[in-house]
Amino acid sequence: MIILGIETSCDETAAAICSDGKILSNVVSQQLIHSKFGGVIPEVASREHESLLNQVVNYALLESGITLNQLNAISVTQGPGLAGTLLTGISFAKGLGLGLEIPVVPVNHLEGHIFANFLAYETLAFPFICLLVSGGHTQLWSIEDMGKYTLLGETRDDAAGEAFDKGARILGLSYPGGPEIEKAAKGGDPTKVQFPRSLLSKESLEFSFSGLKTSLLYFMDDFKETNSIKLSDVIASYQKAIIDVLVEKVNRAFFKTGFKTCVIAGGVAANQSLRKELSTVLNSKEIIFPDLSYCTDNAAMIGYLGELKVKYDKFESIEFSVKPNLKLI
Ligand code: KG4
Ligand code: ZN
Repeated sequence: MIILGIETSCDETAAAICSDGKILSNVVSQQLIHSKFGGVIPEVASREHESLLNQVVNYALLESGITLNQLNAISVTQGPGLAGTLLTGISFAKGLGLGLEIPVVPVNHLEGHIFANFLAYETLAFPFICLLVSGGHTQLWSIEDMGKYTLLGETRDDAAGEAFDKGARILGLSYPGGPEIEKAAKGGDPTKVQFPRSLLSKESLEFSFSGLKTSLLYFMDDFKETNSIKLSDVIASYQKAIIDVLVEKVNRAFFKTGFKTCVIAGGVAANQSLRKELSTVLNSKEIIFPDLSYCTDNAAMIGYLGELKVKYDKFESIEFSVKPNLKLI
């Protein structure tokens, strides 16, 4: 089977070709226009998708050596995400699908992030824990089978990606904040500033990052770089405070479920310090990360999961519409 995946849930315009579980091409165009606003402007993002989609899909086809007539299906992100940007992708997918007389399959973006781990590790087997850490979500899931998921805990306020993005704004760095903070933290000493780690009650699997962000805001109010504390030390300390909480919660989830494997999904999974810390602190466990290109938003994960849905006949008719608040369950 050959399937075209399309992703437009936020500010990445992406298309990929997937054939029998293998990714033949994966094209992502990140809309740089938003960095000057310090965040994504929904209306601007929709217009950008509109003008980029045709080109991005053509690139994906060209790179894979596949022609439109060889496609057996199209999968597209249905939600969660911005209503207008999702609509752009879905309308494009439906138009193309109707023209080619092939099925169009809606895919849950969050489920796509989780399944990106099968691309990194083909022999990944259920059950496993998933730490889902993106710009809008921070959740721990017990993944028992395809479609069988139990929420173990989630954030009560900001998502981990949001803590990176809002922290970056306070620090005068650009959007998206995660990669900027990661870069600026290089060479900094993460033990120099003791930012709070909100671990909540002893066994809690919930998260809270808003206090950390406020604490950075107050700290920066009267911070002046000196020989003993550099800005890179502050940034490394802030990053470490986020990572420590994530690592501790994954540790608790292992304890609670008794599972042996945890996969990390979503944009924050691209963070090298998080990867290193998880692998070091939890070295007796199996921790799986998607390839870097499949961490942040991409269409490979949408194509891969869409193909599974077609195979198992688990999709609605073409009548489906956008679901900006779609949950995993
Ligand atoms: O999954 P994703 O691409 O989009 C959503 O579905 O939200 O995640 C985007 C989030 C942003 O908050 C971004 O700052 C964060 O992932 N991110 C990172 C890194 N790369 C992206 N956070 C930390 N370190 C990174 N290297
Ligand atoms: Zn995402």
